[in-house]
Amino acid sequence: MADRVEAYIDQNWVRFVEELKEFMRFPSVSAQRAHDKDTRACAEWVVAQLKGLGFDAGLVDVGGQPIVRALRKGKSKKRVMIYGHYDVQPEDPVTEWQTPPFEPTVRDGTLYGRGSTDDKGQVWTHVKAVEAILKTEGELPCEVLFLLEGEEESGGDALPRYVAQAKADIKPDAIVISDSTMYDANTPAITYGLRGIVALEFILRGPAADVHSGAFGGGIANPAMVAAQILAQCVSPDGKILVPGFYDDVVPLQDWERESFRKLNFNDEAMAKELNIPRVHGEAGYSTLERLWARPTFEVNGIFGGYQGQRSKTIIPASATVKITCRLVGNQDPARVRKVVVDHIRNVCPNTVRLEINDFGASPPVLFDVNDPTIRAAQDAMRKGFGHDTTFIRCGGSIPVVSTFAEYLGCPVILMGFGLDSDGPHGPNEHFSLDSFVKGTKSAAHLLRMI
Ligand code: BES
Ligand code: ZN
Repeated sequence: MADRVEAYIDQNWVRFVEELKEFMRFPSVSAQRAHDKDTRACAEWVVAQLKGLGFDAGLVDVGGQPIVRALRKGKSKKRVMIYGHYDVQPEDPVTEWQTPPFEPTVRDGTLYGRGSTDDKGQVWTHVKAVEAILKTEGELPCEVLFLLEGEEESGGDALPRYVAQAKADIKPDAIVISDSTMYDANTPAITYGLRGIVALEFILRGPAADVHSGAFGGGIANPAMVAAQILAQCVSPDGKILVPGFYDDVVPLQDWERESFRKLNFNDEAMAKELNIPRVHGEAGYSTLERLWARPTFEVNGIFGGYQGQRSKTIIPASATVKITCRLVGNQDPARVRKVVVDHIRNVCPNTVRLEINDFGASPPVLFDVNDPTIRAAQDAMRKGFGHDTTFIRCGGSIPVVSTFAEYLGCPVILMGFGLDSDGPHGPNEHFSLDSFVKGTKSAAHLLRMI
């Protein structure tokens, strides 16, 4: 088959990219209520596309953003579920984009625009793989169920709730997800571990309004300064998290993993150069890949309060806000980590300000067995699609629903990502290589045949 299906992809990829651009023009920003209509319109567009390929497709509404559900029978009764997300992260800062975020543009063999790599472009590889098989072979080798969510990027729980309630109806034999990365452009990879996440914010409130820093400075606590003092008690300069109990359940890196990470020859200087930072930084005693893939973190995503304008303004801010995410690794329990972090912030926060803490969702880490035969089949499929040896990696990011799949669906989960960390997901000028798009589509088609 390989040749006919691959030939179809080679002959049609230019059209595939035009369709993907249409997909990307929907500003399906799930975090923002102002975009709810666009998000739904995007989901409806995907449903129409899948109906066009003979799928029994529709939207599932369980509250929150709609879920795209589409099923088509195949030669065998085996069911492969393809998961992805059609929502995207907010586009800001919009002035940093060379071309507008929702006007997808190809430059030098690369597609630019919000969602190109995370995750519309990767979702589209699977839709087009299915098309390529159907148009060349007439039927699918197995049943294919698409389950595409619209709130992966905003910590929503619609899909986890749906999976818990509809597990008997979903029952896949394997789950395929392309929402992660390769090791580098020439090293395709299957991801066998994702970090978990705990997201929260704390707000420190001082005076009812900003007040004169001469009139009151020295006599009252400054919420922005208190925020800095609290944070300094959360992480040490050498990258150790100081929250008591934070590391309690962390599974130490196995020798074989340290060895396999080491063999990837990660280049710290190249990463520093790419990011335009003076040097890499992280927890003492670990390599960069170990820090990124197998160690937990405590990060500030945003910190604000007080005057943000030009030059100087002499005030003490009324409040300061700090947004935090912790990345988790096995065997950390998100509820427990949240508790130790919240307790610590409460303990170290002085009584000179009022403290408010808000939760923004959590999910546990996942780790899969690289010796699973289905995961090995995916490795072969990707090797064929990309024409390169395919390795195993872990990823620093999180895909919250994956732990729900692992818990309720009890089948192998294949994380076959086609993106790169350097694609700029979540940032300005997000992009996806068209070469990876085409090879990813071929890999996805091979996989359906090999499962
Ligand atoms: N595609 C990413 C997950 C990812 C990132 C996998 C990097 C591998 C490498 C996904 O869309 C994502 O961004 N997830 C969020 C989840 C959060 C909003 C709960 C994340 O990791 O920040
Ligand atoms: Zn993302």
